[in-house]
Amino acid sequence: MNYLNQIFHGDCEEVLKQLPDNSVDLIFTSPPYADQRRHTYGGVSPDEYVDWFLPKSAHFLRVLKPTGTFVLNIKERVVNGERHIYVIELILRMREQGWLWTEEFMWHKKNSYPGKWPNRFRDNWERLIQFNKQKQFKMFQDAVMVPVGDWAKDRLANLSQTDKTRDESKVGSGFGKNVSNWLGRDKVYPNNVLHMATECANKNHSATFPVALPEWFIKLFTEPGDVVLDPFIGSGTTALAAAQLGRQYVGIDINREYIDLARKRISETQIRLPNIADLSGLKENSISFDTPVCGG
Ligand SMILES: C[S@@+](CC[C@H](N)C(=O)[O-])C[C@H]1O[C@@H](n2cnc3c(N)ncnc32)[C@H](O)[C@@H]1O
Repeated sequence: MNYLNQIFHGDCEEVLKQLPDNSVDLIFTSPPYADQRRHTYGGVSPDEYVDWFLPKSAHFLRVLKPTGTFVLNIKERVVNGERHIYVIELILRMREQGWLWTEEFMWHKKNSYPGKWPNRFRDNWERLIQFNKQKQFKMFQDAVMVPVGDWAKDRLANLSQTDKTRDESKVGSGFGKNVSNWLGRDKVYPNNVLHMATECANKNHSATFPVALPEWFIKLFTEPGDVVLDPFIGSGTTALAAAQLGRQYVGIDINREYIDLARKRISETQIRLPNIADLSGLKENSISFDTPVCGG
């Protein structure tokens, strides 16, 4: 079966049976959240969420290459006045399934509008949980470097003696920093908080994430030509990002309407490919990162 650069209609658990073992470099996805979108594409009860997810993540584990990465965009919802623990349970059960819980990134939704709730503040961030099959995985940190930022002008102008040597951690963590390493550099590594605006308008899907989100992880964890899978593709955002970056994609969605939407978005974008340089310039402006206060 030719599965590359295709959007499949069906339950990802079934469709994935047709994909070979160790064939995907990055899985990036946002599954249906527990119960939340019941009126648009159905929901899974929070109490049943982990059992619903695990047979699917077993397939993700099988199709992912040993050097590949799985990034899961998810957030626990509030049930009866407290945060439900399905995400925490899921992490624990996925570790039993054979995954390593390597890292967690935070997506800060920077255009969120204010709200008022009696016992909490507005939810303004989501988790991006990174899982791997092994400790050695492909990672291209230079591909996501960010401008050094204004902090460097003041901080690097008058370096102390300590700044010029490796300053070991005072708490004995083994980490140290040499601030002078950042002299003369115009780019630095970002941290694990991504500040990006949400993008809901105009996609005919109620849970679209911004193209910049998969784009960032695709650059970090894959090379051109690699294969990116989104088993809950929705309006096709991950496939779109992959195609724009010269990666191959595999998308799956259970909802026929979204399949059509995803295919339409991808075909329209591929036709516009010659103008992509202009588009990416615009997109980069809509992302910002916390700049570090010191190098390390
Ligand atoms: C949170 S949305 C994904 C939105 C997507 N990231 C985007 O930018 O448009 C989750 C998607 O999972 C799909 N879905 C739900 N259960 C599924 C299953 N068992 N297999 C495949 N897709 C499923 C839904 O139809 C929905 O489009």
